[in-house]
Amino acid sequence: MRTTTIPGYTYGSDESAKSPVGLDELEKLKATVMFTDDDEQALRLAGDVLEDQVEDVLDVWYGFVGGHPHLLAYFSTPDGEPIQEYLDRVRQRFAQWILDTCRRPYDQTWLDYQEEIALRHTPQKKNTVDGVDSVDNIPLRYIIAFVYPITATMRDFLAKKGHSSDQVEAMHQAWFKAVTLQAALWARPYVRDALW
Ligand code: HEM
Repeated sequence: MRTTTIPGYTYGSDESAKSPVGLDELEKLKATVMFTDDDEQALRLAGDVLEDQVEDVLDVWYGFVGGHPHLLAYFSTPDGEPIQEYLDRVRQRFAQWILDTCRRPYDQTWLDYQEEIALRHTPQKKNTVDGVDSVDNIPLRYIIAFVYPITATMRDFLAKKGHSSDQVEAMHQAWFKAVTLQAALWARPYVRDALW
């Protein structure tokens, strides 16, 4: 896996946060989004299907963000100037995340990096990894709402390598569950413990 060359990508390192969420809670959340071993298998296949399409996927997602000034604002200075270096650096970590979502075991190390990614969307860590002067929070409502475009736009890419419609559907559903699961984990730092 491309782990060492991506600036700011700290999966499995001591620099990353530790998640207060444990494996017991993860199992409950997985059950809540109906995530099973079949989904894990479907994600492994999706990883193979997507591996050489990651840049094309990101072109679509970045086009979507770039086409909506209220979203591009989170990659911009407080007075609204997009920061190209920030967009480029985050893009590399986003690419890795697509493959991590498909291929990493969802264990405590994975949970820890979910916490780290969550914090990077909030005032606790946003901008710090890349040392940029951007706005310091991405509202939780946009994290949740972003699950839809990130899922809907994936189907065409999953269908590009000649798999049956049943296989494509299985990969797509597994992807939807995995992203929903992560959005639920990323909500944690936004709300008081007792409410999460
Ligand atoms: C960072 C995914 C919602 C803006 C990231 C990273 C990933 C990611 C994988 C890089 C993690 C790393 O550093 O290793 C997602 C997913 C979302 C979501 C799956 C929703 C389902 C949003 C929204 C925005 C946004 C709605 C607003 C436009 C950013 C920014 C960063 C970032 C600015 C860089 C944060 C930093 O300073 O480190 N996101 N994101 N994200 N995302 Fe999101």
